[in-house]
Amino acid sequence: MKNSDALSKLISDAPEFEAGHVWLAGAGPGDPRLLTIDAVAALGEADCVVHDSLVSKGVLELANPKAELVHAGKRGGKPSAEQADIIGTLIEKAGQGRKVLRLKGGDPYVFGRGGEEVFALAKAGIPFRVIPGITSGLAALSAVHVPATMRGINQAFVFVTGHGAETSDAFDWQALAKLGQPIILYMAIKNIRAIARHLLDGGMNPGIPVAAISEATTPEQKICVATLSTIEAALEKSDIKPPAIVVVGEIVTARAKLLKLIPEIPGAAK
Ligand SMILES: C[S@@+](CC[C@H](N)C(=O)[O-])C[C@H]1O[C@@H](n2cnc3c(N)ncnc32)[C@H](O)[C@@H]1O
Repeated sequence: MKNSDALSKLISDAPEFEAGHVWLAGAGPGDPRLLTIDAVAALGEADCVVHDSLVSKGVLELANPKAELVHAGKRGGKPSAEQADIIGTLIEKAGQGRKVLRLKGGDPYVFGRGGEEVFALAKAGIPFRVIPGITSGLAALSAVHVPATMRGINQAFVFVTGHGAETSDAFDWQALAKLGQPIILYMAIKNIRAIARHLLDGGMNPGIPVAAISEATTPEQKICVATLSTIEAALEKSDIKPPAIVVVGEIVTARAKLLKLIPEIPGAAK
């Protein structure tokens, strides 16, 4: 079977999207080519797509042209759609017998409030399904040649939200600093000063490398590399803006080493 026929078969053999059901799907980090086959199939079947701001235009273009697109996003200084309103919309549309696709950037269960949404659906007696997506914390690193794990460097990595970092009592940043493993931060740009301060106070080496990657996997992807003590100033000078992933750890050094080798390889992707 040709590759394209096998792909079409996988899409057409996807589980049936029934009326009155809600599917929560991860839309991945931005590049529509990083969608799962199940997410593509769901986009073709759904008659209502409730999506976040981080879901890219290229992904939404795969929606059934007859589907209603509902923007439930929170970006650009505009008032946020309240979580309760989003849940209300899902329940209402499912109650109308629609096939509702709740599309979230990255993976629906990683810093995306997907957990709250499925609990609300379950309590309302609405059948749901969850389709995993590639989380931006991993995609951003791969997209810039920072291996999330590297033998001899790390045995773990930690995903952390930078949201709320200005109040250190909510989370033990210093314990995290002492782990000595890479830290992959979501929503960290606004609070980078507080985050760096907490990690330095926890005894982390000021010279540890840090990379911030914005709009990873899209044509607008940018990267800024600095150290824990210089990242705040480096970000101020850079054009990095949210959405961005910040990674703190020795794994960042692999990138520079690889970039030195890549130009020597004819035809290698940069
Ligand atoms: C509300 S969280 C949602 C995370 C998402 N569920 C995931 O798994 O990637 C939003 C944050 O994800 C990160 N993010 C999402 N897409 C990104 C991208 N393409 N490049 C860099 N960071 C991204 C940013 O830290 C952004 O502030």
